[in-house]
Amino acid sequence: MNILLTGGTGYIGSHTAVVLAEAGHNVVLYDNLSNSKPEVVDRLETILGTRPLFIEGDIRDRSLLAEVLKLQNIDAVVHFAGLKAVGESVEKPLDYYHNNVYGSLCLMQALQDAGVKRLVFSSSATVYGEPQYLPIDEAHPTAPTNPYGWNKLHIEQMLSDMAAADPEWRIASLRYFNPVGAHESGLIGEDPNGIPNNLMPYIARVAAGKLPHLNVFGNDYPTPDGTGIRDYIHVMDLAEGHLAALAHLNSQSVCHDFFNLGTGNGCSVLEMRSAFETASNKKIPYQVVGRRPGDTALVYSATDKSKQELDWRAARGLDLMCNSAWKFNNK
Ligand code: NAD
Ligand code: WQD
Repeated sequence: MNILLTGGTGYIGSHTAVVLAEAGHNVVLYDNLSNSKPEVVDRLETILGTRPLFIEGDIRDRSLLAEVLKLQNIDAVVHFAGLKAVGESVEKPLDYYHNNVYGSLCLMQALQDAGVKRLVFSSSATVYGEPQYLPIDEAHPTAPTNPYGWNKLHIEQMLSDMAAADPEWRIASLRYFNPVGAHESGLIGEDPNGIPNNLMPYIARVAAGKLPHLNVFGNDYPTPDGTGIRDYIHVMDLAEGHLAALAHLNSQSVCHDFFNLGTGNGCSVLEMRSAFETASNKKIPYQVVGRRPGDTALVYSATDKSKQELDWRAARGLDLMCNSAWKFNNK
């Protein structure tokens, strides 16, 4: 298939590009470079041995999208493009609605006009909000707690309404848990601008000596070591989940379906710190500070639906997540 990846030079998009291209698909990357660099395309060329087509463009540019969809004869789209910093979404909600919700609306209009009706959407486990029960399955109630999470839920709803109006659509919304790690080459990975908000990139910078210590946001949670537990998933497993979702679209019984992409396992902040110390052979000093507002104690995914319907499961463990992230950060 000819597959358009919006946000294709970003962290998850670039890893998915590798998996899709290696599976024989032709990938076209479409990104406005607001949070990624054009060098990613060179890195992909090194990994793949062939250069994927990259188009610098914004998802809010419907005429450029129309041209690309037509000229590249696109069969399906994986929609990664979006802003993703939770804290920033609280400070600048309209920027987030404009980029993420309005941007997705423009993309959907362009797809509808072009008759491209196969879509995989990057959603997030953040749509579930505070867990009502564990593990979190796809039927768990949705109750986002910040504008970023609401963006994802509004986009999911827009996709459902669109699919209800035209039953030829086949859409999979993938709700990611906590993606971490990097491609085994160490050439692509997660490289946030400024001081990282997320645990793994923060730890990686402490190990690399670029930040003095890790701040552990609370050690009084009702978990075995008192620190927050999350379901970290290797980005290459996540990327393979997109390949599985694309393969499943044509046989999907409903027009719009939802799948968790997680491992089903929980890992605490301190467990992640020790695993990264082992992988990097560096000391990672830490200090316990107060809880981060909005954080929850324990989150992990139910994996049955993705296993059964997508025939996909995460295979890589915490050691590979840390080793690959360290290789990328230490290059
Ligand atoms: P990323 O920032 O690395 O990649 C997103 C890409 O989209 C960037 O390259 C950015 O330049 C591009 N982009 C943003 N707005 C755009 C626009 N208007 N037009 C064109 N390109 C635009 O982030 P990521 O971690 O790769 O996330 C990819 C998707 O997965 C996002 O939608 C994110 O919300 C979602 N997601 C990420 C996580 C995570 O923890 N990384 C978890 C759940 C869901
Ligand atoms: C993980 C754990 C922190 C940093 C966020 C978004 C979510 C999703 C993924 C997109 C928590 C602790 C963290 C630090 C720490 N993104 N921590 N010190 O909060 O589960 O999810 O990213 O959809 O929407 O909310 O991930 O990596 O920020 O935190 O102690 O410096 O690490 O308290 O327990 P989170 P995270």
